[in-house]
Order: sequence, then structure tokens, then C-alpha cells
Amino acid sequence: MSQPNAQNVRHLAFIMDGNGRWAQSRGMPREFGHKEGAKVFRRLAEYCSDIGIGCVTTYALSTENLKNRSRAELAALFILLKEYLKDAMVTAPKNDTQVKIIGDHSPLPADLREMIKTVERETSIYHKRLNIAVNYGGRDEIVRAVNRLIADGHTHITEEDIDSALDTGGCPPPDMIIRTGCEIRVSNFLLWQSAYSEYYFTDTLWPDLTEEEINRALDDFNSRHRRFGGA
Ligand code: IPE
Ligand code: IPE
Ligand code: MG
Repeated sequence: MSQPNAQNVRHLAFIMDGNGRWAQSRGMPREFGHKEGAKVFRRLAEYCSDIGIGCVTTYALSTENLKNRSRAELAALFILLKEYLKDAMVTAPKNDTQVKIIGDHSPLPADLREMIKTVERETSIYHKRLNIAVNYGGRDEIVRAVNRLIADGHTHITEEDIDSALDTGGCPPPDMIIRTGCEIRVSNFLLWQSAYSEYYFTDTLWPDLTEEEINRALDDFNSRHRRFGGA
């Protein structure tokens, strides 16, 4: 395997797309793809941490997914998330990782909300950060952040205020966003934070993503010239 070069990557984000197609191409229900996708998420989140990336954000369920996916598919996703959160209580301390579920928790089932609260509280002392986006929409996140600032009495809002009021507050902006699953679009992910992110789109379906391909994406990232508006 090629060597990972994550030196310049403080925050790596993933749009984990393609689970349904991965399963359907094997004649299996979409839920089977999510189950495999969850295994790959665990493995690759740990890999990113091992190669020194301090912040990882993964897109697991969008605000649009919550409205437009079947009850059965959502139920399967919630079970997988609960399984992960239970395990994270053990793995997060070992990996020195704070786990945060970004997105609007309010419409999620009560038992899931309870588990989220517990994991976030128990892991808040650790240094690396893993954000899992659930019922997350970039537009919704900005609206919630602005409303929170208004509720706190702000009458004039700066970019820094919004940065820190977003669900990703405390994280640097994503250096690179990797989207699996063939689609070349953003699908409402990290709209504010991605102003200068580098994108890497791949046809690989999420359950087929490997450490090797992450290394290739990192090599690609390192070959790019980030100008941030400079000449
Ligand atoms: C991504 O996989 C995970 C979620 C959106 C929950 P999809 O479920 O969108 O899989 P495809 O795109 O239909 O293959
Ligand atoms: C984006 O995937 C959301 C997640 C990966 C969680 P979608 O499958 O929902 O995106 P669209 O609908 O193809 O844009
Ligand atoms: Mg999809």
C-alpha cells in the first residue's frame, strides 16, 4: 500500500454515498448496503485517526434523507447508529476521540437522542474529533446557528460568530471533502465550511472505499495548489 501523507490535512470530510446501489447490485436490500457501509465507516474513521487527521466529518443522513427515505430504511440506519454509539463509548477513549453528532437532533427517536447526549458528554474530554452528520443539512445548520446567535442577544453577526455557532464549531474548515458514489454534487453538506475545501469525487461506492484510495486522494490533495484567492 502507498504511504499516507496527511500532514497538511487537519480536517477530512466524507460524503458516504452509494450504499443502496452497492447492495442492489448484489440483489440485496438497501439496508444490507448500509450495514456494510457502517463497517467501512468504522474502519476508515479509525484509519484517518491513525494517520494523524485530527478532525473527521462523515455524512450519514441528510435532512432530505429523513424526509424522503422509507421508514424501514430509516429504522435500519438508526439501529446501526445506536450500535456505533454504544461501541464508541469504548473505542472513543482508546482513540482519544470526541464523538459529535452534527445536525438537528430534534426529530430523531427519543432513545437515540438520549444515546447521542450520553456519548457526546462522555467523550467531550478527548482531543481528536469525529463528527457524524445525522439529519444534517448545511442550510438548516446555518439557520439554526443564526437563530442561536439572535437568541443569545446578538444584533450584529460576524463570520467568526457563525463559524463558532455552527455544529462544527471548534473544528478547522475541511481541507478536503471526499464523495463516493459517482455523483458530482454537494447535497447540502458543510455549505458554509467548504468555502475553500478541495473536493475529491470518486465512482467507488462507499462500501468499496479503501485505505489505499484515501491515500490516493491525499496524494491528489497534496498535488493541488490552494490559492485562497491569491495569485
Ligand atoms: C448513502 O447511501 C447513505 C445515505 C444517504 C443514508 P445511499 O443510501 O444514498 O445509497 P445510493 O446512493 O442509493 O446508492
Ligand atoms: C447524500 O447522499 C447524503 C448522504 C450521503 C448522507 P444522497 O444519496 O442523499 O444524495 P443525492 O440525493 O443523490 O443528492
Ligand atoms: Mg445516494
